[in-house]
Amino acid sequence: MRMILGEVDGAAAVLERCWRDGYCVPNPDVYPHLWLWDSCFHSISWAALGDPRAAVELASCLDAQLPSGFVPHMRYAAPSEGSGPLTDRSSFTQPPIYAHAARVLTERGLPLAPGTLERIERALDYLWNHRMTADGLLFIVHPWESGSDDSPRFDDWIGRSAWSRLAFTIFDHQLVEATKFDEEGAAVWSREFVVAPAAINAFAAHAARELGALTGKQEWHRRADELAAAIDDLLWDGEQHHWVDKPIVGGGPSTVLPTLDGLMPALVTPDPERARLALAQAEDAAGYAAPFGLRFLPAGHPRYQPEQYWRGPAWPQLNYMLYQAARRWEATTLAEAIADASRRAALVSGFAEYWNPETGAGLGAIPQGWAALAAAYPAIPAQPEPPAAG
Ligand code: GLC
Repeated sequence: MRMILGEVDGAAAVLERCWRDGYCVPNPDVYPHLWLWDSCFHSISWAALGDPRAAVELASCLDAQLPSGFVPHMRYAAPSEGSGPLTDRSSFTQPPIYAHAARVLTERGLPLAPGTLERIERALDYLWNHRMTADGLLFIVHPWESGSDDSPRFDDWIGRSAWSRLAFTIFDHQLVEATKFDEEGAAVWSREFVVAPAAINAFAAHAARELGALTGKQEWHRRADELAAAIDDLLWDGEQHHWVDKPIVGGGPSTVLPTLDGLMPALVTPDPERARLALAQAEDAAGYAAPFGLRFLPAGHPRYQPEQYWRGPAWPQLNYMLYQAARRWEATTLAEAIADASRRAALVSGFAEYWNPETGAGLGAIPQGWAALAAAYPAIPAQPEPPAAG
């Protein structure tokens, strides 16, 4: 029982420490701005604590929405130049987790701020109208938009197999120059980097499904079905039993590398066998299943580096999303294993941004707001007291 109190109290303390006026910064020193998908996960974590700031933070992460419906991936605490034409907010976007957050809040009986659902609908509409390929997949124009910034799946764009964070950072800024922006300052295309990743497509289809459930609008269920079908038709890899990314401008074979992203379409696939094959890898100790949650690359893969940013560590937000997929398929053992490892890892790592999946050692920013997701898994039922001896 002490452990349950530990992660709930710890999550509350982390969120409290990161709270600013209406939202949490991911970390006060390393990440002193608002980040879109981080705030969605903070909102889910506030909701788990029964705190009405859940609705405030969900509304805040949509505040920077442009008239077109586009939601920027950051809102800067102070003006910032060099990452696109906008200086008060990002010109790029990030995975659309807001619809799932709205669903969680609603299920927990926390009222949404006025206008939240309408803003979410406009946000998803934007993606469907401006970010779809002709074959019906959602594309991104910068690695920042994936949320998995330095994923090995992007290695072929930077043209080197030996990963270095500096090389990626230089490349990220080069890519801003290669981006085409619309008249409102939102990124719409790139000369060098366009890709339809499995994970962001899965998150978008999942978001459409959640919005359909919240609004009762069949249109969103139809869009969810169509996108899930396109993901299965165009991205399923029947040999590796995961979904790959589809390069559109640039890229190469690194887009089929095994990364945890490639399992995310289990959130939306209509195919039980594919879901089973994909989720089995998250239960396999020689695959993604580590003592402290899910590795970003399978154990033993030549690019697996358990302590390097996006090259192997476990991430709390990805653990949480794969947990949702496991629950969808009633893969109870897997769901419980993810929940248990995520709770333990939050405590061992000091609520880190990401951690070594083998040891739980905290990495990146500590503490980080989204580690509070440890409180979002259902509480372990209290064990009955053993009968007194004698
Ligand atoms: C890093 C992560 C990104 C996250 C941001 C703030 O850039 O790659 O997913 O949103 O940090 O936590």
